[in-house]
Amino acid sequence: MSQVWINETGFTLAELEKHLWNLLFRATIQKKEAFNKPTLGTLSAEGPSLRTLVLREVDTGKKILIAHTDRRSPKVREIQAEPRISWHFYDERRGFQLRLSGKAFLLAEGPLWEAQWAKTNPGSRKVYASLIAPGQPSEHPASGLPSGWDEGRLSEEESEQGKPNFMLIRSEISALDWLFLDARGHRRAVFRYQDGQLAQSQWCIP
Ligand SMILES: Cc1cc2nc3c(=O)[nH]c(=O)nc-3n(C[C@H](O)[C@H](O)[C@H](O)COP(=O)(O)O)c2cc1C
Repeated sequence: MSQVWINETGFTLAELEKHLWNLLFRATIQKKEAFNKPTLGTLSAEGPSLRTLVLREVDTGKKILIAHTDRRSPKVREIQAEPRISWHFYDERRGFQLRLSGKAFLLAEGPLWEAQWAKTNPGSRKVYASLIAPGQPSEHPASGLPSGWDEGRLSEEESEQGKPNFMLIRSEISALDWLFLDARGHRRAVFRYQDGQLAQSQWCIP
């Protein structure tokens, strides 16, 4: 049987695919995992646009990634204009690169949005309370938060002020490209999905 060997463990294509989605899921819980902070690629009017985001939730059954952002940020307008996106993950310790592509949907209401807001802590809610939209010019280095908010923790009530700016980026994945760097020879596999279901698996030359 055709297997890839990773740290003395052999994986078939099917086992590898499951393993990769499990690693993505694990990265939403273990913040120190390299896959916790991937790069999201969108298309802007000037060309490709990249930025780091925190991977907040993974639905391994439906092949969906969830990230949080500010609805006023440029990436939201880019996704509205062109929902096709790609994600890049690199785990130096494992020697894994993942490139995922798919379609992004923006959510600013509903049960999933409410549940994700409820999971955020006052520290991470702070950014959504900035009075000026992300990316706007400023005459001096500033966070845009109300005066006196930079230091210290927000009360529960204060942290709610950012909620109207809170938005989910829900990515439905249609392809996953895995590259494994190994001294004995690199390995690569590509998986394709249709409506959240695995439709094609293929080893590739790196
Ligand atoms: C480690 C790290 C984590 C980040 N996490 C997020 C995040 O989860 N959501 C987000 O909108 N921006 C996050 N950012 C900021 C983005 O990379 C980006 O600068 C910001 O969202 C503005 O992007 P835009 O101008 O393309 O909309 C993070 C940046 C770093 C360095």
